[in-house]
Amino acid sequence: MNSNIYLNYHSNTSLDSVVKKLNISAQKPFEMATPIPAAANHSIEFYNHELVNIFNQEWVCIGRDDEIPSTGDYLTHEIAGTPVMVVRQSNKKIAGFINACAHRFTCLVPKLSGNAFVFTCPNHAWTYDLDGTLRHAPFMDMKPGFNLDQYRLQALHTEIWEGFIYITLSKNPQKKIASSLNSLHKNIVGQYDMGSYQTVIRECMTWDANWKNLIENFTESYHVPIAHQKTFANHKKPIEDYICGENNDHYCYHYAPQESETGPGAAHPENTKLKGKWRRTMVDFCVFPNHLVTLMPDYLWYVSVMPSGIGQFKATWGVAVPSEILADISAEDYDGWLSQMASYINTANDEDRALVEGLYRGSASYKLPQGTLHPIERNLWQFIRYLSQISS
Ligand code: FES
Ligand SMILES: [Fe+2]
Repeated sequence: MNSNIYLNYHSNTSLDSVVKKLNISAQKPFEMATPIPAAANHSIEFYNHELVNIFNQEWVCIGRDDEIPSTGDYLTHEIAGTPVMVVRQSNKKIAGFINACAHRFTCLVPKLSGNAFVFTCPNHAWTYDLDGTLRHAPFMDMKPGFNLDQYRLQALHTEIWEGFIYITLSKNPQKKIASSLNSLHKNIVGQYDMGSYQTVIRECMTWDANWKNLIENFTESYHVPIAHQKTFANHKKPIEDYICGENNDHYCYHYAPQESETGPGAAHPENTKLKGKWRRTMVDFCVFPNHLVTLMPDYLWYVSVMPSGIGQFKATWGVAVPSEILADISAEDYDGWLSQMASYINTANDEDRALVEGLYRGSASYKLPQGTLHPIERNLWQFIRYLSQISS
């Protein structure tokens, strides 16, 4: 059953009503804050508001820079229904486009990734260079006055930050990602040098929940000792040791050191960048609205969450690993190591899926109590503050 097609008690809640509830929680001190209002997960008006004011405006992560190293390498993605693509240019920069032909808007590149010399539309074979210019349009010389120069792919702004590719549908993005994340980088994540981590996995999954339910789940670790018995709970980070980050309009984070200074979750002896407790510390952060990262000294796991309906999202996730960790894996062991890594993350995803879909189903209820937030769920309040601020 696909829950995104069923209406419920909150479906017709007005935008004003949802924003008012968000504002009430955002304006309280954290200690008094309440969870994301249930109607924010279900209101049709609020969902449309998110498409216009969040996904049509904000920077969103769609992958890693090292996934497209060579000229003509490309990744495709969707931003809340808008197909987009990024392509490595011959000058080594990347260019972003709406993935739709300039003739009658057929989706130009159907594959998720690949390499191309030119892009040829499957419909009438209009053919574009890697920079989006129209090179050839069959039989269009039959149309008086037609000029190739008048048509091209719609270009989009892109930015690389710490190895992640960001793209935006906004024509005039207000701020560069690097400047929005400056203090996060300077104070917390810059020391990991995650831009040098090498991407080894990229996968996509579809879950039946509102996109914000996965943001909620990923940004709090209160559930980890209970839900992640087969995976993250083994790192043994006591709940009392989690430290929540400062308030910020663009991101939230928390971090926790693990007990062990060696083995999984700890820095490799050849890692000389991380010092002291950071050599065994995990940082979970979210770049608002939808880029989630678990950053460890020995790997990172990221997720980009995109709504495909009120009650359904697609999450593209990947894993990247520092070179000193990869250097220890022999060529003959690599495939086994990689499938073990993918299986570990997929197990963690399975552990979360029931919770995330449960958040969506439970919040559809007619009668709900007020709810509350645990002290290490501060990131949820920061996410509420972001949603409130973007709605005002
Ligand atoms: S729609 Fe692409 S060539 Fe016609
Ligand atoms: Fe989780």
